[in-house]
Amino acid sequence: MEIETPLSSWDGELTCVRYDSGTGAWFLVAVHSTRLGPAAGGTRAMTYPSPGEAAADATRLAGAMTLKMAVAGLPMGGGKSVIRLPVPRAKLRAETWRQILDVHASNLQRLHGDYWTGPDVGTNSADMDYLRKATDYAFGRSVAAGGSGSSAGATALGVFAAIRASVDDAGLGTLAGCRVLVQGLGAVGARVAEMALEAGAELLVADIDPKRCDAAQARGARVVNVAEVTRTSCEVLVPCATGGLISAKIAETIPCSVVAGAANNLLRDAGSADVLAERGIVYAPDFVANAGGAIHLVGREVLGWTAEQVTVRTLRISQTLKTIFENAHKQGVSNERAACDLAASELANSTVAGAGRGFEGNN
Ligand code: NAI
Ligand code: PHE
Repeated sequence: MEIETPLSSWDGELTCVRYDSGTGAWFLVAVHSTRLGPAAGGTRAMTYPSPGEAAADATRLAGAMTLKMAVAGLPMGGGKSVIRLPVPRAKLRAETWRQILDVHASNLQRLHGDYWTGPDVGTNSADMDYLRKATDYAFGRSVAAGGSGSSAGATALGVFAAIRASVDDAGLGTLAGCRVLVQGLGAVGARVAEMALEAGAELLVADIDPKRCDAAQARGARVVNVAEVTRTSCEVLVPCATGGLISAKIAETIPCSVVAGAANNLLRDAGSADVLAERGIVYAPDFVANAGGAIHLVGREVLGWTAEQVTVRTLRISQTLKTIFENAHKQGVSNERAACDLAASELANSTVAGAGRGFEGNN
């Protein structure tokens, strides 16, 4: 994909692109909206076929962060950064990774706080600790370094609240006895899988990492081949790997009653939400279901909330989803459409346009 393609069709405020010949890495920062506050969103570091694909991912993910912040009622806008690595992170030398983070930090510092980053796929709290040495605009540092630590626990809690609300809307009653298929047993998925087991669900799992599958199998899970995830019968599909799992074509045949997970940008194309709705599959929009991480990071590090306040706000995801489901039923639209409309009305009703400028945070 040419880099012009995603950039020229994007409705965001700013994109920054840099290539660093020293490391071979490409850097993309996408600021979608600062209407509700400074843009925030994680740093995704992985390989992409071309800088165009990296730009497409950054812009799409940044737009989703705007929706996530608006629906979660957080005073932040939406942004994302993508580092296109020359080789997978596991194969990078530690020194090269540090050089990459140095370039990223200098890029962020030049944006003067219009964009704040945090952990995402391929980055973690230790990376945020390192970035904070050279930029003021990173949260999600380790607790030892004065940050709020991993957001995965809050994300998992919110995803589980979303699963319960969706199961209820689908008329399945409780999770006990339901087949719950978790795709991706990482920081979020492994936690959600445990919660599903505790709730009496029959657990199915899929991960490209066989060790993670083995660990879940030892806990009583049935392992599903990663290529079979969207063809495996279950009541609840919980995507917790990377995005793009469900296209309109896949939505036509996917054998489940509920889709609710953590993966950002789960739907590959615009038509997939409509197909899911037409088939009566309850879809919890990703940017609503996975907002627990943003609530944790922004709540703890920007708004000064306690862990209890973060938990209360995270559990409120189920109430937000009930409102979205009701609106969707009343208006005869997909849950995705109803969630986007809710975000749009939050953005339109905001009286703090451009509030992000000059924001300093509290750490
Ligand atoms: P992670 O990197 O810890 O885990 C991802 C897991 O997915 C790994 O176990 C990996 O082996 C597996 N995986 C990758 N590709 C796969 C495939 N094709 N099939 C099956 N498994 C595959 O990531 P984490 O933190 O658990 O996040 C999961 C998803 O949730 C990501 O899309 C992330 O953007 C999203 N998310 C995470 C938040 C957080 O607080 N960690 C917050 C909001 C969204
Ligand atoms: N990357 C996570 C998400 O997509 C957590 C995060 C939220 C990181 C907000 C930075 C800012 O929600």
